[in-house]
Amino acid sequence: MSKGEGFGKVILFGEHFVVYYLPGIASGISGQTIATLEDGQKGFELVDNRPQVPGYGEKKSEEMKRQFEAIFNYFKINPEETPIKITLAGDLLCSSGVGASAALAASTARAFNEKLNLNLNDEEINKVAYLAEEAGSGTPSGIDNTCSVFGGFITFEKNKEGGPNKIEKLSVSKPVEIVMVSTGITQETKVVVADVLKLKESDEEQFKAITDEYIEVYNSAVKAINSGDWKRVGELMDKNHELLQKIGVSCDELEHLVKVAKDNGAWGAKLTGTGRGGYMIALTPGKELQEKVAKAFEDEGFTTLRTSVG
Ligand code: MEV
Repeated sequence: MSKGEGFGKVILFGEHFVVYYLPGIASGISGQTIATLEDGQKGFELVDNRPQVPGYGEKKSEEMKRQFEAIFNYFKINPEETPIKITLAGDLLCSSGVGASAALAASTARAFNEKLNLNLNDEEINKVAYLAEEAGSGTPSGIDNTCSVFGGFITFEKNKEGGPNKIEKLSVSKPVEIVMVSTGITQETKVVVADVLKLKESDEEQFKAITDEYIEVYNSAVKAINSGDWKRVGELMDKNHELLQKIGVSCDELEHLVKVAKDNGAWGAKLTGTGRGGYMIALTPGKELQEKVAKAFEDEGFTTLRTSVG
């Protein structure tokens, strides 16, 4: 039996914009997916024991199938000849927005690396995870698999020429509390990313104006994080959320979550990841504020994740 793990992730700045080679800011989170490989009886058998929002497995089944095929191809595995059983488990609540598909890819790649005694390093695992993400969701930036493999708090910029992406570590004096809240809605990243591309192509000038504003937000966010000015980081997250509204990736449910977070004192709140469902992130420095905001959501019946960045 061999095992591998992959972290979940949270994007603080730049989802969707990173697809167009703009920089983003993201962090691994403590929730993980764990993949276990065993010899199977016949073909490929998947046992999915991951905690997940209702409907996640059905909505993601085709995407997952493509991801596994890409991983089998990379490792030259043909389950018809060598039956394989993969069990997915761990404490990462699967929903869109939290890097669940990247965590699947990273954990499965690590498990095959162990099974086949390949001694791949994290860079190479990350390449396999990217290939699986590409097969699953079309044109990924690579930010999700990078967070899933390496964890940590980073800036990320996809390389336009196809070479290594630019990844830099951000350091903070102490981790800062956040609350992540699931809308319970699962989205296919491929569909939402394709819609953003359509919007871009329908009005390049308007899209450029939005991305210009985003660059300013990003640059100010890096400065604010480096100087520990989390009030400013919160304001910039709000601003980033407005830009995401403009590119059509928010929805009523996310707007409600953002409002509840702000009404309860969050310093900033925005959708995170794919959008149109998935997760919202609220910046809630200090255990007391984190508890207050998380409780407000739980009182409304939402599932929350109390975690931190940095
Ligand atoms: C999804 O978590 C983040 C997106 O920016 C897609 C990507 O970066 O590949 C929407």
